[in-house]
Amino acid sequence: MLKGKPFVKWAGGKRQIIDKLKKYAPDEFDTYFEPFVGGGAFLFELSPRKAVINDFNQELMNVYNVLCDEDKFKKMCKVLNSYEKQHSEEFYYEIRNKDRNKKSFSKLSDYTRAARTIYLNKACFNGLYRVNSKNEFNVPFGKKTKVNTYEGDNLITVSNYLTMNDVKILCCDFATVVKDAKKGDFIYFDPPYDSDTSTFNSYTEDGFGKDEQKRLAKVFKDLDSLGCYVMLSNHNTHLVNELYKGYNIHVIEAKRNINANAKGRGKVEEVIITNYINNEDIK
Ligand SMILES: C[S@@+](CC[C@H](N)C(=O)[O-])C[C@H]1O[C@@H](n2cnc3c(N)ncnc32)[C@H](O)[C@@H]1O
Repeated sequence: MLKGKPFVKWAGGKRQIIDKLKKYAPDEFDTYFEPFVGGGAFLFELSPRKAVINDFNQELMNVYNVLCDEDKFKKMCKVLNSYEKQHSEEFYYEIRNKDRNKKSFSKLSDYTRAARTIYLNKACFNGLYRVNSKNEFNVPFGKKTKVNTYEGDNLITVSNYLTMNDVKILCCDFATVVKDAKKGDFIYFDPPYDSDTSTFNSYTEDGFGKDEQKRLAKVFKDLDSLGCYVMLSNHNTHLVNELYKGYNIHVIEAKRNINANAKGRGKVEEVIITNYINNEDIK
């Protein structure tokens, strides 16, 4: 089966470390849960038959919902074709500024909003997602003369995966998502990164600070007690080591491009934490 890949560039995207994630995933599991799905690199790589995916970001989860509906997907493609043809700096700002008028924005169809999200992601500076305090997308134009919103057949591959499998799409807090998880299910947490130095983790209007990392560790422990397979990735920070003491902490090196501070680009240490050992650990 042809596997999809992320249809948007997303901060913290996991394509770079996908092989390592696969290496530490459980050998077998029932339902797959991904409460911070973002661009979905690991979801598409695993392509599980039964999954529950979630992210706090409403515009992003609206795209997943549209990709799941054949009719809406076709309509979104038509809008994308027209956006690709009209692409220019002026057009980019016209589409970007649609969320400045809350009333007319709320009347846009879900497939038009989905096309806007994909188009802005491909046409903006560095594929960033950033909103201001009024929840208005405020990333500047990326200066590309042409945009390729489909990336070959990738959108079709992703849409086929989502429609042909049992994938539940949610848009809420991570703790709510895993309420129904049972023994034997696999939960992969990829939260906004913790940091020993800066506080850059504003993916949405709500930040994800140290208290949120602690709240997440509590959920991790509850799922562990239930008998779920739990895996989590994060930066190799003091807090993360403290919170997950006693679990399997695998340190890996990753290359990162999206960072608020240019000095922070390059290689950083990340960790993949699991509450189980798999065949790979025994080798
Ligand atoms: C590191 S990114 C995930 C990257 C993703 N795994 C990928 O490959 O693209 C973290 C995500 O968590 C989401 N998020 C932040 N706070 C959240 C919360 N409380 N509940 C659910 N999702 C949240 C953000 O919108 C962001 O997409």
